Amino acid sequence: MNKKMWGGRFEKKTDPDVEEFSKSIDYDYKLAKWDVFGSVIHIDVLKKSGFLGNTEFTTLSNALNEIMKDIKNDKFERDEKSEDIHTDIQNKLEKKVGDLALKLHTARSRNDQVLFDLKFFCKDELYHTAILCNQLRNSILEVCKENEKVIMPGYTHLQHAQLVYLKDYLGSYAEMLKRDVGRLNNTRERIKLTLGSGALAGTPIASNLYNEAIKKFINEHKELKELQTEHIAEVSNTLDTVSDRDFVIEILSALSILGMHLSRFAEDLIIWSTKEFGFIEIDDAFATGSSLMPQKKNPDVLELIRGYTGTLYGNLVSVLTMMKGLPLTYNRDMQLDKPPLFSSFEIIEQELEILPKFIKTLKWNKKAIEDAIKDDETLYATDLVYCLIKKGVSFKEAHNIIGKLVKFSLDSGRKIKEMSNPELAKFSDRVGLIGKLNQREIAELMDPETSVKSRISVVREKNV
Ligand code: ARG
Repeated sequence: MNKKMWGGRFEKKTDPDVEEFSKSIDYDYKLAKWDVFGSVIHIDVLKKSGFLGNTEFTTLSNALNEIMKDIKNDKFERDEKSEDIHTDIQNKLEKKVGDLALKLHTARSRNDQVLFDLKFFCKDELYHTAILCNQLRNSILEVCKENEKVIMPGYTHLQHAQLVYLKDYLGSYAEMLKRDVGRLNNTRERIKLTLGSGALAGTPIASNLYNEAIKKFINEHKELKELQTEHIAEVSNTLDTVSDRDFVIEILSALSILGMHLSRFAEDLIIWSTKEFGFIEIDDAFATGSSLMPQKKNPDVLELIRGYTGTLYGNLVSVLTMMKGLPLTYNRDMQLDKPPLFSSFEIIEQELEILPKFIKTLKWNKKAIEDAIKDDETLYATDLVYCLIKKGVSFKEAHNIIGKLVKFSLDSGRKIKEMSNPELAKFSDRVGLIGKLNQREIAELMDPETSVKSRISVVREKNV
């Protein structure tokens, strides 16, 4: 029989459908490790405040350590019939130490417990997600370095705009990821581990005992070192503490933004892998075929990255909506923060694990990129404008002159590079401008490297 953590005032057993409907063990089992950590801290507090004797403390501590060992060795078997992971661990403890386990819940509510577990879990996940994010960033920077001389068309509105280095195009994704890492770290630092709120109104134990116990526990566990600088908080308002899910929403926002960046990256790669662009070829190990068309090599991985962005946004909106009408303090609705949170972490982590391998194995078709930049009539238009400006022509006038020149060239098929000086002079009706555009200069200017190097405001990561 699965025991509950409540029931004294009830005369009837819970309807089995209600049990099934309301339980969270199917997903909150992920908090098992953090729940045991919370209990280890809690018995320390109980001992210090006189609620547990020394022998009682040692017995509970040993039993909790045994459970922790099972969790670490993947031997922990959750009881699917338990209401949640907190209940399950409590029941396992009772099996080990009998009635003494009933003292564990002194001055503790699951409202506080679930929050502590979740915050601890999130801090750890955020830490590892930031590492993965940095790894992807480094892989992108590596590709930038390997292709440091490659020049490609830069686009606005997906139309040829100006020439850019491939390393700057890809480097912009490295910039996005840098901001993502910052957001993940800020979010992690803002999460303060809290205990002592009780159900909502606090407990008869001073908050400094909780805070000291949390600090001591983290200092004793080397694997949690990364959390050492910013892990505790004075519980200033216990009502707010138990009803706060801002950190979940902040995480889901940060993961949504990160997912949006990965989706844009995926979209660029999808476009570049098409026959029309042909800039890249996806490695066989990362592409999929068609069940009907034998020639197909599809970018399914990238499409799923793009597609999962919808799930990430949905997860964020689901928790925002779940929270918006809740009266203080804890309400059972809040249990539903976990499936979207876990889902977003899982999606992002999978994407961040696949992408470095994916881009490392991409084949860059330099010939196709070179062919794409043989578009003098559009890709150098802005350079031509700058050339006139340097000769004293106003920007507006220069823009107009080059606009007409480009249109003529596109309509007539006559290459700008091949036009004679008198032909060029026709594009300015102002007498003083005749001779300001000349063939020799244009030929010099219409060179990919000259073009990209003329943009000296570009700032790059060192060594790229
Ligand atoms: N499984 C619950 C949750 O995740 C635990 C808290 C239950 N608290 C309560 N007052 N019913 O939110």
